[in-house]
Amino acid sequence: MRTIDDLQVTGHRVLVRSDLNVPLDHSGSAPRITDDGRVRASLPTIRALLERNAKVVVCSHLGRPKGAPEAKYSLAPVAERLSELLGVPVAFAGDGGADIAGDRARQVVGGLAEGQVALLENLRFHPGETSKDAADRAAFADELSALAEFYVGDAFGAVHRAHASVAEVPKRLPHAVGQLVLAELEVLRALTSEPARPYAVVLGGSKVSDKLGVIRALLPRVDSLLVGGGMCFTFLAALGHPVGASLLESEMIDTCKSLLAEAGDRLVLPTDVVVAEKFAADAAHRVVAADAIPDGWLGLDIGPEATAVFAGVAGGAATIFWNGPMGVFEFPAFAAGTRGVAEAVAAGSGFSVVGGGDSAAAVRTLGIPETSFTHISTGGGASLEYLEGKTLPGLAALDV
Ligand code: 3PG
Ligand code: MG
Repeated sequence: MRTIDDLQVTGHRVLVRSDLNVPLDHSGSAPRITDDGRVRASLPTIRALLERNAKVVVCSHLGRPKGAPEAKYSLAPVAERLSELLGVPVAFAGDGGADIAGDRARQVVGGLAEGQVALLENLRFHPGETSKDAADRAAFADELSALAEFYVGDAFGAVHRAHASVAEVPKRLPHAVGQLVLAELEVLRALTSEPARPYAVVLGGSKVSDKLGVIRALLPRVDSLLVGGGMCFTFLAALGHPVGASLLESEMIDTCKSLLAEAGDRLVLPTDVVVAEKFAADAAHRVVAADAIPDGWLGLDIGPEATAVFAGVAGGAATIFWNGPMGVFEFPAFAAGTRGVAEAVAAGSGFSVVGGGDSAAAVRTLGIPETSFTHISTGGGASLEYLEGKTLPGLAALDV
């Protein structure tokens, strides 16, 4: 595995694949970045290359446009933020079209002097980035690699995607692993090698089906696996409890039953929940026992008793990995579970890792200092797939 110190980049063009997929607020006249964590996390690699007098060409996806330009997913606001954070101009190569690595990009990149930086437009505006057809991805990867002499893979949040810029371009250029990917890997390796015990994992989020692989992989390795968020209702249903109008994946009930049987008391579910009459910030709500959700009501947070239990386990763990909010924390009435868990993890003295966009955003929205955690990962899906033991295409391509 090579790092950027192994590349002779001075005076050369270096294509950096970052994950600048930031949340945007589209309610105003221009899109506004609501959390620039991923832009900040991309800085060390870009700065290191600029210090080495490389010509730096950054590229990323943003959102999930379907292989065609969509103005609201332009990286233009990210170019502006990147420029502010770096303190140098960032030449933006977007022109509203889908020709991401074509004439306009070649012109912008060709105009870079040593120590200057450019940003390409959203890679997913080009159908070749995410195409299911390997030949389409290869053709786009050819175009992208023609822009540079070196490639640095630093898009940790996207390493689980077999997309052209992530998995194909590094096959075409001398490449290295970026600083962010190195930092993320160091933490994930600590979680998977010999984690200090007790090792607790807190999982939230809406779907059991998304987390099934990681639950299966982690159950034999952890001391406690605490399940909150929307997915806890499928587990409660598997215990035979009524879940009212809560989120439910009925096709997953049998799977949850067998997980519960296998896990014994290591799998911890909430004993009470906050239920609401409807999904709204101002909905009527109350706390009920987890086996007594009334007909028609929906669970939007774990209850105070469950929060205390989760916080106790999380706060007392020597190793803690937390992925996914415990409730609809964007609505203050349903934020207490997520806040309780976040504050307990932050206050604990264990090795603490927050995985993923939503949980990281929750931490920042709730105003908990980022430094209270050992690490806040920029990759949700990527860190889960790593913990699951899967081969990640973007890491394999970098010889990791
Ligand atoms: C993410 O936010 O999960 C990463 O940027 C990857 O994006 P994706 O899930 O749309 O592939
Ligand atoms: Mg994702």
